[in-house]
Amino acid sequence: MTYPIVRMRRLRQNGLLRDMVRETRLHASQLIYPLFAVEGRKIRKEIPSMPGVFNLSVDELVKECRDVEAAGVPAVILFGIPSEKDEMGSQAYDAEGIIQKAVRAVKKEGLNLMVITDVCLCEYTSHGHCGALRDGRYGKEVDNDRTLELLAREAVSHVEAGADLVAPSDMMDGRVGAIRDALDEKGFEAVPILAYAAKYASGFYGPFREAAQSAPAFGDRRGYQMDPPNVREALREVELDLQEGADIVMVKPAMAYMDVIAKVKELFQVPVACYNVSGEYSMIKAAALKGWIDEKRVVMETLIGMRRAGADMILTYHAKEAARWLKE
Ligand code: PBG
Repeated sequence: MTYPIVRMRRLRQNGLLRDMVRETRLHASQLIYPLFAVEGRKIRKEIPSMPGVFNLSVDELVKECRDVEAAGVPAVILFGIPSEKDEMGSQAYDAEGIIQKAVRAVKKEGLNLMVITDVCLCEYTSHGHCGALRDGRYGKEVDNDRTLELLAREAVSHVEAGADLVAPSDMMDGRVGAIRDALDEKGFEAVPILAYAAKYASGFYGPFREAAQSAPAFGDRRGYQMDPPNVREALREVELDLQEGADIVMVKPAMAYMDVIAKVKELFQVPVACYNVSGEYSMIKAAALKGWIDEKRVVMETLIGMRRAGADMILTYHAKEAARWLKE
């Protein structure tokens, strides 16, 4: 025969065979579940643009963490939403701040669950920017080096409260080094840093900003987050964060940046995380609620796509559900 038929379908005949030759796997141990802590008691307020995701008071957040542990998800990442915000975001590094209270309460439970904290100032500042402001050449701007001191204080206070890992998401230059130094100085050299290394200025953060009440009061974040068309620059960000002491590097968002995840994975010998962000979650939820897509199938396909691109771990609002589906 001139054109012999190559029988690719031979290995697709049944589920056991397909499973045996599967190249990429997704396991609950690779998922991290984001949670939003608010002041008060018995508060469980659904975020309108994120069905199934809630603002939780500490008592409710603790319950949620028990559930996350039971689902087999190994870690949560906590975001704090203070009731008082100010210019310098002082609640971010206050020992009695919402996030510090939340971390202490969760760690007290003694769960088999890691607590990661997001280190940033935008949830805590009255202007909603990720650092302290100053008058710059083009109007108000975030003062990089002054912000480093605040971020370092914030990270230390999270770890003093019991955080197992810290995850800086502010995109200031030099913040991983500043945080590493501050932690080491306090004797926390064993605490790893998960750096939001390549974080793009993305429209996909919209629902999160509703959840965290952290939309900037003026301007946008393009002066510190990355420009979406750039990938070389992402590799440079990753390289710098690693030089400064990052242990895990993250690409964020995930779905529109799969090429970036793949490149980072290919070029660096470190664990890579990706953040399947709020807007990505909302799109799937909205289409599923309308009955336009099969939610479970689409979620699992999306998450395995991130794994295939090279993500060792995925921060996702689908984590709890996905972990349950993986057990079925
Ligand atoms: C804080 C932060 C943001 C997200 C994670 N950490 C928002 C932002 O940068 O505006 C977004 C997460 C999501 O959209 O799910 N800087």
